[in-house]
Amino acid sequence: MHLFDLVIYGGTGDLSRKKLLPALYAGFVSGRVDPVSRIFLTTRSAPDEDVLPWLADVLAANGDDVSADDQKLQQFAAMVSIVPLSLTDKEDDGWKWLVETLQSCADRPIIHFLAIPPSVFTSVCAALSHHQLNTDRCRIVLEKPLGHDLASAREINADVACHFDESQTFRIDHYLGKEAVQNLLALRFSNILFERLWNNQTIDHVQISIAEDLGLAGRGGYYEGVGALRDMVQNHLLQLLCLVAMEPPARMDAESIREEKLKVLKSLSNITNETIKTDVVRGQYSAGTVAGQQVDGYCEDMNLDGNSNTETYVAIKTFVENWRWAGVPFYLRTGKRLPDRFAEIMIQFKDVPHSSSPDWQYHNRPNRFIIRLQPVDHLALRMMVKNSAEGQADLKEVELNLDVSDPNRLGPYLRLIFAVAEGDQSLFVHREEVEYAWRWVDGIISKWDYFNITPVEYPAGSWGPYEAHDLLRSDGRAWF
Ligand code: NDP
Ligand code: BG6
Repeated sequence: MHLFDLVIYGGTGDLSRKKLLPALYAGFVSGRVDPVSRIFLTTRSAPDEDVLPWLADVLAANGDDVSADDQKLQQFAAMVSIVPLSLTDKEDDGWKWLVETLQSCADRPIIHFLAIPPSVFTSVCAALSHHQLNTDRCRIVLEKPLGHDLASAREINADVACHFDESQTFRIDHYLGKEAVQNLLALRFSNILFERLWNNQTIDHVQISIAEDLGLAGRGGYYEGVGALRDMVQNHLLQLLCLVAMEPPARMDAESIREEKLKVLKSLSNITNETIKTDVVRGQYSAGTVAGQQVDGYCEDMNLDGNSNTETYVAIKTFVENWRWAGVPFYLRTGKRLPDRFAEIMIQFKDVPHSSSPDWQYHNRPNRFIIRLQPVDHLALRMMVKNSAEGQADLKEVELNLDVSDPNRLGPYLRLIFAVAEGDQSLFVHREEVEYAWRWVDGIISKWDYFNITPVEYPAGSWGPYEAHDLLRSDGRAWF
């Protein structure tokens, strides 16, 4: 059971309502969160209602089956306080209340979770330090995307470091908290079978896809000017790429994992003036149909008069330039308003060097290993076997399935909050990783700007722009 005091700055905002509070409630109901833990939600404008009905609405809106007279909900609500606080004013009375209240229980870690725009990070860190809320038992959690580019990320990292040691700083990427991502590490580094095959001798290429059927889901204000490259590629997709491509870490501790991930980020091939047009596709959804529903295009969603260069789709071909991966393309793609929601890593192996039977030759397909992160955790190995239908001597493809889903598994945010409480940084992103990822992403953005590359349209409900299919087709491949 985990015991902590958690202060969520921006505690009534979207992230807190949609992800953090439902995760904490699930942790409480399943008996994993100690009921003497305390949760503080800071806000500049407290809701009119009491905590209990407000929480009931928040949780119900996220699909939890709760009502205000629910006993569990009442117990959970007793752990939650709403704290009126102006984050940018360190003399605000709310700080004094928070300090006294947090000091009243010295038996637990204090987690400061910054669920606020990065522009306010610096003021909050300075206020925490001013009120001595940065002692050894305090940890600070920073949400992605950290900054807007390399320069702003460096500035934020430097500002935070003035008040918190790196060992107290937890940069969150919730993809690292997903069960299947944990499984990827276990699978790669505890099975000799994979390690021997995990290189350019055997692997043809790798695809990493995060597809969403949703559009902006009420976050349009944040998204405009940010776009898919900064929102998804700089963090989630590059982190997944690191875990697929990294060398076996000496130990499964934060420092060893970080060292290996960093080497991958440093080895990523840069997108050049030549490859920006051939290896990167930038798209924006137009009106279309998703799951039978007619939906607006991005600019109508945002009331933008058809005038936005914000991409809602990106596909990229890149290489990890080292001995293990030389010549193996990594194709990354992510987009909003696609037909379905899924996240998946697909490793495609090379063809057999020689087909021993003419009957096999035409049906043989390369082996594929698929790691599905969502909507369900699933590992599958696609292999060829003899077609056993009468009179057939050819081959057919079968799937070895490993159902790794577990109804009692921890959700990503809960797993990450528990890791912060334990001081375990292995599921978090180090300052240098953030900066190397930005350096690579900035290289793409500067070329988009220089060559005036604007997003191409794709209809909502399609699998992205034609150009994204051509990206693989011109290499003789196809998206999985
Ligand atoms: P919201 O705008 O919904 O909420 C942020 C909260 O921050 C607001 O409720 C507001 O609190 C507070 N806030 C905003 N501006 C200021 C300011 N100038 N001074 C003080 N407080 C301010 O944003 P999200 O919850 O969506 O995002 C929060 C952070 O989490 C961002 O960094 C975002 O990038 C990140 N994130 C969000 C995800 C999501 O699914 N929502 C997913 C991944 C990351 P109040 O007005 O009550 O004081
Ligand atoms: C967030 C992005 O980090 O991840 C969102 O800001 C995106 O735009 C979300 O929708 C996707 O997360 P998940 O876990 O639902 O795939």
